[in-house]
Amino acid sequence: MFSYFIFLVASSVTFLRTHQVSSQGSSCTENPVFTPSALVVKYGDPANVTCVACQKDCSGDASGLEHTVGKVSQNGTTMFWTVDRLTEWGISLQCYYNNDAGNQCTSILNPTLYQLPESVSISFVNHTEMMFENQQYTLQCSVQNVAPVEKLNVTFYRGNTALGHLQSNSEQKKPVNKTFTLNITPRREDDGAQYWCESKLELRPAGPQRPPVVTSEKLPAIVHYGPELNEPPNPDVITITEGDTLHLNCSSVGNPSPSYTWTLPLNSSPSYSGSVLTIKSVGFEHEGQHICTVSNTVGTVTKEFNIDVQ
Ligand SMILES: *[C@@H]1O[C@H](CO)[C@@H](O)[C@H](O)[C@H]1NC(C)=O
Ligand SMILES: *[C@@H]1O[C@H](CO)[C@@H](O)[C@H](O)[C@H]1NC(C)=O
Ligand SMILES: *[C@@H]1O[C@H](CO)[C@@H](O)[C@H](O)[C@H]1NC(C)=O
Ligand SMILES: *[C@@H]1O[C@H](CO)[C@@H](O)[C@H](O)[C@H]1NC(C)=O
Ligand SMILES: *[C@@H]1O[C@H](CO)[C@@H](O)[C@H](O)[C@H]1NC(C)=O
Ligand SMILES: *[C@@H]1O[C@H](CO)[C@@H](O)[C@H](O)[C@H]1NC(C)=O
Repeated sequence: MFSYFIFLVASSVTFLRTHQVSSQGSSCTENPVFTPSALVVKYGDPANVTCVACQKDCSGDASGLEHTVGKVSQNGTTMFWTVDRLTEWGISLQCYYNNDAGNQCTSILNPTLYQLPESVSISFVNHTEMMFENQQYTLQCSVQNVAPVEKLNVTFYRGNTALGHLQSNSEQKKPVNKTFTLNITPRREDDGAQYWCESKLELRPAGPQRPPVVTSEKLPAIVHYGPELNEPPNPDVITITEGDTLHLNCSSVGNPSPSYTWTLPLNSSPSYSGSVLTIKSVGFEHEGQHICTVSNTVGTVTKEFNIDVQ
């Protein structure tokens, strides 16, 4: 009941406005209506749209639908545009109606023609093959022959983790090649992770409800770091009784795996290259400084053990 009342009021307001406008002859009370109101078409696909140029007060004479491709059939003020294969970029359909007052009322529909990327690939800028922890590198995602680029949403991933979303502000309707970049600063945990990118065309609501996606290949990351000593620094002097067993632990982390070199007191034992030096039975010849040098391609660290035998 209440809504019916609203409807009556609204209709009479419309009537009044219509009357005023037509007497002034300055604008349109009703514009042509396209159904559907937006059109998203895949390159080469068929398409169609209906335009009702005038629904009420259709006493004017001319109506039409201007088009550069496709065919139009007309029935009264209703027009039906159809094309078998849409391959023209950036087209525009103009539906118009000339009303009593001599105004041309026009609605424009710009169909979105889209094309999935021909290829999507990921690489490092300047072909970096090797990365070092805590340094900055630039990943690039190259998307080829995609349209319209303004609907493209590119996401960089490390494994399953999204690192960032990027978009283009270009309004180019035709297919373009576009490169997106992202700076990364790898951590040691990222060693062995895989970087990849995903390009997604966001064509909703008029386009596919599940946005079409093209992904790149996976790019493995090798992160070099270290070496770093695992253990807290030693006490300055390790005091041990003659005949006891001694373990000197110099094990450290790094990528690539570090190598160990021990510098021992003269005459104490043959050269050794393990991470833990074990002396089964300590003698006085073991007294003195034991230096462990740990190195890999990234760097070198040393650890000192001073042994006092009693
Ligand atoms: C018009 O387009 C719609 C949506 O693509 C399609 O389902 C329909 O069959 C088409 N109609 C004609 C007559 O081509
Ligand atoms: C034109 O539209 C009228 C009314 O909607 C309908 O009765 C008639 O069949 C249509 N003519 C054609 C050729 O489609
Ligand atoms: C890539 O290398 C070129 C020339 O060697 C240099 O000018 C450019 O700054 C480098 N770009 C990056 C992101 O490191
Ligand atoms: C881009 O895609 C991501 C991941 O699917 C999404 O979270 C984000 O909202 C999208 N951005 C836009 C602007 O559509
Ligand atoms: C995109 O790149 C491909 C391959 O490099 C090239 O053949 C094509 O012409 C480029 N397209 C545009 C629009 O620049
Ligand atoms: C040496 O130290 C590392 C790191 O603390 C530890 O994992 C390893 O078990 C130790 N080795 C020996 C033989 O004690």
